[in-house]
Amino acid sequence: MDKVIITRSSEETEKIGIELALSLRDGMVVSLVGELGTGKTTLVKGIGKGLLISYEITSPSYLLAKEYCGQLVLHHLDAYRICSIAELHEVGLDELLPPAEGVTVIEWADRIAGMDEISDISVSIDYLDLESRKVAINTKKRT
Ligand SMILES: Nc1ncnc2c1ncn2[C@@H]1O[C@H](COP(=O)(O)OP(=O)(O)OP(=O)(O)O)[C@@H](O)[C@H]1O
Ligand SMILES: [Mg+2]
Repeated sequence: MDKVIITRSSEETEKIGIELALSLRDGMVVSLVGELGTGKTTLVKGIGKGLLISYEITSPSYLLAKEYCGQLVLHHLDAYRICSIAELHEVGLDELLPPAEGVTVIEWADRIAGMDEISDISVSIDYLDLESRKVAINTKKRT
């Protein structure tokens, strides 16, 4: 199922994350794709609010992954420096892949070869102008 939403502010992008959180279940993987600064972390902040996480979500960057506890456990991963699932294994982050506990949200998921097949929801964010973004959400049908 595909859904395309235009957002005109970071608040609106957060709201998309809040709504997205409603469809998340234990073990799901969400891929986030979009150029530098499009709003991937902003969307994850919304997911955090939707999952009733009281800590402020910030970019994992050099830490690669952060974990938060809310209605579900949220693993927030930044794959900017990771190229393959094998590399996730090497750095010990393969435990975040299914059947992991909680939800795993991965920024720069397109940098990891094979990630698209694993993810349940793919979100891509594109610049329209300074404050507007096109957010496309693809929810995979699982049989
Ligand atoms: N419509 C919008 N949606 C999201 N962010 C927006 C929007 N308009 C402006 N912004 C601004 O763009 C920036 C997005 O930053 P954010 O860290 O969320 O991006 P990112 O994609 O995670 O970046 P990175 O590639 O470095 O991980 C913020 O400063 C935010 O205020
Ligand atoms: Mg980010």
